[in-house]
Amino acid sequence: MNLFGIVKTRIIFDGSCIYDILVMISQRECVIILCLLVIKFEFANLSSAPVECLKPFCQCQKKSNGKAVCSGRSLHYIPRLPKYVRSVTFTNTSIRFIDKCGLVNLTFHQIEKINFTGNVLRSIDKDAFLNLTFLDSLIVSSEPQLNITALKLSFQSLPRLKIFELGFNFNFWKSLPRDMFNNYHVSNVRHLFLQANSFTYVNFTTFKTMTSLREISLANNSISNVSLTRLTSLSKLDMSSNLLPSVPTFCGRNDNSYFPNLNTLILSRNNIGFFGLKSFRCLPRLSTLYLDYTNIGRLQDNVFASLPSLRTLHLHSIGKPLISISQNAFNSSSLETLILQGSFFHFDKKDRYNANRIFASCPNLQHLDLTDNYMPSDESTFQMIFRPLKKLQKLFLTSTKILNLPTNVFTNMKLLQKLHLNDNGINSWNNSYRIFGNMTSMKYLNLRNNYISVINETSFPGELLSRLKTLNLARNPFSCICDQMWFKNWIQNNGSILIEYPNEYKCIHPNNMNGILLRDYKPTDKMCNPWNPLYTMAIAMGIVVLLFLTVGSIAAKCQGNIKNYIYLLRVYHNRKQGYIPLDSEEDYEYHAFVVYCDNDRKWVHNDLLNKLENEEGLQLCIHHRNFIVGDSITVNVDNFLKRSWKVLVIVSNNFAQSEWCQWEVDVVQERRRRQGKEVIVPIILETIDSKHMTSQLRTLLDRTPSLRYRSGVGTELFWKVLLQSLRKPLGHPPTSLLY
Ligand SMILES: *[C@@H]1O[C@H](CO)[C@@H](O)[C@H](O)[C@H]1NC(C)=O
Ligand SMILES: *[C@@H]1O[C@H](CO)[C@@H](O)[C@H](O)[C@H]1NC(C)=O
Ligand SMILES: *[C@@H]1O[C@H](CO)[C@@H](O)[C@H](O)[C@H]1NC(C)=O
Ligand SMILES: *[C@@H]1O[C@H](CO)[C@@H](O)[C@H](O)[C@H]1NC(C)=O
Repeated sequence: MNLFGIVKTRIIFDGSCIYDILVMISQRECVIILCLLVIKFEFANLSSAPVECLKPFCQCQKKSNGKAVCSGRSLHYIPRLPKYVRSVTFTNTSIRFIDKCGLVNLTFHQIEKINFTGNVLRSIDKDAFLNLTFLDSLIVSSEPQLNITALKLSFQSLPRLKIFELGFNFNFWKSLPRDMFNNYHVSNVRHLFLQANSFTYVNFTTFKTMTSLREISLANNSISNVSLTRLTSLSKLDMSSNLLPSVPTFCGRNDNSYFPNLNTLILSRNNIGFFGLKSFRCLPRLSTLYLDYTNIGRLQDNVFASLPSLRTLHLHSIGKPLISISQNAFNSSSLETLILQGSFFHFDKKDRYNANRIFASCPNLQHLDLTDNYMPSDESTFQMIFRPLKKLQKLFLTSTKILNLPTNVFTNMKLLQKLHLNDNGINSWNNSYRIFGNMTSMKYLNLRNNYISVINETSFPGELLSRLKTLNLARNPFSCICDQMWFKNWIQNNGSILIEYPNEYKCIHPNNMNGILLRDYKPTDKMCNPWNPLYTMAIAMGIVVLLFLTVGSIAAKCQGNIKNYIYLLRVYHNRKQGYIPLDSEEDYEYHAFVVYCDNDRKWVHNDLLNKLENEEGLQLCIHHRNFIVGDSITVNVDNFLKRSWKVLVIVSNNFAQSEWCQWEVDVVQERRRRQGKEVIVPIILETIDSKHMTSQLRTLLDRTPSLRYRSGVGTELFWKVLLQSLRKPLGHPPTSLLY
């Protein structure tokens, strides 16, 4: 045979496989022609005809980079797909073996990503990926039956210069062969995912051959032990959700770092129970550290101080709860973001941290998240905590039990852009300039789900409102009363910055407006301005009303108290329905229901709550905080009284003058009639002026032993006596006088 040429070409046999063969061109021309014809015919047949996405198994999307997903247990092979497909996923099919030609149908287009997840793969041929010259990502997940050695051998057919991502997750692998990645063809891989296997130990020398490796994820294994080795290219390591008992040592010989370029380290959800001074050494470039859900009850001094590049620290739900924080725990001049969300740390307990120092050693913080912790109720502690944080841009105080907005805290944060105060118990505030003044960068203010009822001209400084891009006041118990006029008018012009408006802005007060949208409350000038042209008529009507009221009140006095009577009727009704009063402390949700007048709120929140709840662990029911938004006050009083063991009545001159509070006294008296005098503990805050002393109040004070609050020398004794009376069991209830 006289050869005069050799041509390398591909032949496709029976539409299934391409073979690179050498076609010998010889003198026997008929053979050559036949050969070429075969080749031409096959190519024409297979590559130029447009291919449809295989129904019903595959879904192909031309947009978003040509993704195809094929699934279905009756699919047994890898079909041809439309030319535009670049990325293909096979999931829940019955593909078992990928032989030498198994992927041939994918060689007709530029496949970049292949993902096998949850099929029944047993083996992959060592040459399976040959000719997939564009492949950059290979994921083989949830394939527990796949032979790991076969997979390893198939790496030899991967395109070395292209392939940069390998993922083998959820495969139940117990360990990795030492030489798993010891193949020239995977030496350029950048991202390696080995999540959710069953590794208990990992030796990092396995990855040493991948000299460009940037990222390894070993999350969701059962790793309790690692052996590290120097990987200079590594910048991200995820070892979250494992069983590590401590932070691995990142220092090699002579204190050289194993991972000198590590930027992000994720150690969340491990069994780590301690960080010491040496825990985070030898990580010179580390800027982001995740330690969420680790069991650290106490944060010690300088634990993060050895990380010179640390910028972001995630301590979400650390400790659960976090008990104490040493004064230099956050010593880090590079730290910019600190997430302490969900730690339930008591910033309201002075012995657990040092308010002056806690953030003094991280003055460059820009983003602080304190969601789900306990902020202090006294203003001076609040001010101390935040004083060093002049560079804050974002502050989350969501759900931190704030009842009163502190003055001179946010005003010092000239760079603050976002402030979240949602889900607290804030109801109203005075002097908005001392709370929200000088905040020249504010764009976003969130006061959602508090107890705010009226917004008026004095609620926010004008320049703040004009600067805000978004304001969230949704889910507050608004009052549809004339005081709301200003806000209604403001919304007309600026409503677009309100979030969730109008649907989440509802009135609960007055009762006849309960549940209507603030938008639908349309006060007119006539309704809200008493000095309209018909004022004479108004006065006349006023006189009539006054007369009516006078007659009414005389009538009411004669018959006892009508309101009280109505309340008793309701109680009687409840009894008829099977409500039986309970007498033991454990039967109640609250230790005591506190009846007080708004003017005494400060004493109640600062002194009483602090003493009884924070120090003594009692649970009090306070209407500012506990009342259910949306229910009317009478219903709330009724419900919460039922759930409270005892009733504390805070008596002051303001209280004596307030008709509302008097009504509450009447309601409470009913309880005394049923359960005896121990159920009520009146506290006299100040000497009551005789001109304010009403008959109901006198009755209460005469029939029930009361305590007198004294500031200064007598305070200690006062609290002691108060606690004793609160803990005293109820005597036998007197037989009912009423039923
Ligand atoms: C290639 O695809 C065709 C049609 O989609 C199919 O008949 C053939 O079996 C496939 N080849 C392989 C090796 O899976
Ligand atoms: C804070 O950390 C720096 C740097 O690690 C250290 O030099 C300094 O002594 C620490 N400050 C305190 C108060 O411990
Ligand atoms: C606002 O800033 C000015 C000047 O910086 C200062 O004099 C004033 O006291 C600040 N006001 C408040 C409420 O902090
Ligand atoms: C605004 O409302 C607050 C509390 O609701 C009130 O104390 C204040 O007097 C009101 N200001 C004006 C100008 O109506």
